[in-house]
Amino acid sequence: MTGPMAGAPGVAIPPDGPLLCVETSCDDTSAAIVRSREVLSSIVSSQDELHAQFGGVVPEVASRRHTELVNDVVAEAMSAAGVGWRDLAAVATTQGPGLIGALLVGLAAAKAIAYRRRLPLIPVNHIQGHIAANYSLGLEAPFVCLVASGGHTLLAVVEEGVAYRVAARTMDDAAGEAFDKGARLLGLGYPGGKELDLLAATGDARYVSFPRAVLRGRDFSFSGLKTALLYDLRGRDEAEVEAHRADIAASYQAAIVHQLVEKTAACAAREGLRRVAIAGGVAANSGLRQALTERCEAEGLQLALPPLSLCTDNAGMIGLAAGFLPALPWPTYLDLDAFASDSATRPAKRRPPAARPAHSA
Ligand code: KG4
Ligand code: ZN
Repeated sequence: MTGPMAGAPGVAIPPDGPLLCVETSCDDTSAAIVRSREVLSSIVSSQDELHAQFGGVVPEVASRRHTELVNDVVAEAMSAAGVGWRDLAAVATTQGPGLIGALLVGLAAAKAIAYRRRLPLIPVNHIQGHIAANYSLGLEAPFVCLVASGGHTLLAVVEEGVAYRVAARTMDDAAGEAFDKGARLLGLGYPGGKELDLLAATGDARYVSFPRAVLRGRDFSFSGLKTALLYDLRGRDEAEVEAHRADIAASYQAAIVHQLVEKTAACAAREGLRRVAIAGGVAANSGLRQALTERCEAEGLQLALPPLSLCTDNAGMIGLAAGFLPALPWPTYLDLDAFASDSATRPAKRRPPAARPAHSA
């Protein structure tokens, strides 16, 4: 379905009209052409090498790089899809949450293109984008979606389209942060999640029994695990760490994955939902994909595993979400602002105890 949801304010756009989509919420500059539920092209220009020298994303550096890359990335996405300016039905872009300077670059580019072409603009929530990646697989709502990335970890009960309720969230670090910080402690390269995943695949996950703090409560917590890794490494001499780095990585990954799988399965049972999906950069983790596949098979749950290219940040997912969201008519969107965080992405401890609906598309 392309175009605004029934009842939502917005302008109608042709259901099969191509959308130009832009995503610059963190350190990837991405543009895509999406038609209905099909991603015709998706270009991601990674800034990993640029930020590797700092060991993490430097927001100001990311913003500047987005300004250098965004026009070329848009042009490449359009040419890869064989789409010209006149073919576009609307422009979609991430409005938040994310790094504010980085978001503003994509938003400004999207506004400029939409204004110049007299097109509607569809602002998209980044989390809803991650969730919508699953619609490329033909999944239908309702479903439980584990959203786990570098900035957020939550369980979303997706009721219709990209409208969701937060059923659980992290009380401290995001799962991606746990991977990245763990990777750093283990002396792996940047970005850490993927490196740790690759190394863990060669190790023995039974080597260290890290705490598996999953039993109480619905929410996630990863900071204790990170500290446990720190103390485990401190208790070993260099030669031992060298010889068993893969085993320690595999044990650490298994503890993160265990928590993610247990909480997701419990959420599906609690909500009475038989369909499960995953989203965000951590959804690319091979250990998580395997463990969740086994768990869902054992419980007779249907599992959607989006392709890796739609898990980490990309503009294709933004276009998939845009299909469910209202399009703002030309030129009403010119004063639209980006936002850095929203109620769904703040850690649990800073919110009132009762979970409230976070997003209604
Ligand atoms: O969704 P994403 O690209 O950006 C955010 O919205 O944060 O997620 C990035 C996060 C990083 O923490 C990265 O280390 C993690 O996803 N990640 C992985 C893997 N690939 C990316 N974590 C574990 N295993 C992976 N294969
Ligand atoms: Zn993301």
